[in-house]
Amino acid sequence: MSGRGTAEPIAALSILDATLREDQPPSMSTLTLTIRPARPADAAAITAVHDAAWREAYRGVIPGAHLERMVQRRGPLWWKRAITRGSLVLVLDTGDRIAGYASMGRNRAAAVRAEGEIFELYLDPIHQGLGFGSRLFGAAKSELAERGLAGLVVWALADNDRACAFYGRRGGRIAARALEHFGTDLRERVAYVWP
Ligand SMILES: CC(C)(COP(=O)(O)OP(=O)(O)OC[C@H]1O[C@@H](n2cnc3c(N)ncnc32)[C@H](O)[C@@H]1OP(=O)(O)O)[C@@H](O)C(=O)NCCC(=O)NCCS
Repeated sequence: MSGRGTAEPIAALSILDATLREDQPPSMSTLTLTIRPARPADAAAITAVHDAAWREAYRGVIPGAHLERMVQRRGPLWWKRAITRGSLVLVLDTGDRIAGYASMGRNRAAAVRAEGEIFELYLDPIHQGLGFGSRLFGAAKSELAERGLAGLVVWALADNDRACAFYGRRGGRIAARALEHFGTDLRERVAYVWP
């Protein structure tokens, strides 16, 4: 992926313990984050993030049986195959675990004028709200730009308030809306675009 050395961190954050534990005095312990291309060996860890993030984000939004099927379809083998076949997947590596992932590529929707698309951007629930999503989003955007893809689109379910607010605050402009079928249920999807 873009020829970058996989061992070299491209993003690092130092977070005082106080950020995570407000009842404790600050200490010097730090968390180093690396955003790097996924490796086949990450498949099980990405599966765990996908599973936890999707269940947390979509419970009550996507009908339960459909959500369960969508989660079950994406096991370690699915991810391993996707990575091995060259799908663009970035992971957020905290050193001892994978805290999030983003997948991206060429825009799939002719209705939207953007060449690049972030297909998925998911953080493990316990790592949300700490600024990591913003960093992963920035890295995915750069990855697409490095590949010469001009403009970017991300689709989010309209009922996913957190994601819609996140993309809106990152400067995304709503360019299209579409309906997605979950059996007989319909949910609205919103396309956020960046030039
Ligand atoms: C949506 C999602 C990717 C956003 O990632 P995130 O890491 O939670 O979001 P961030 O922390 O980067 O940004 C959210 C807020 O946290 C705050 N924040 C940023 N850095 C921070 C830090 N170091 N410490 C504490 N808070 C911080 C910011 O105020 C930011 O608000 P802003 O958007 O007004 O700047 C993530 O919440 C997620 O995975 N959600 C569930 C799955 C999902 O909906 N994915 C998108 C599908 S399309």
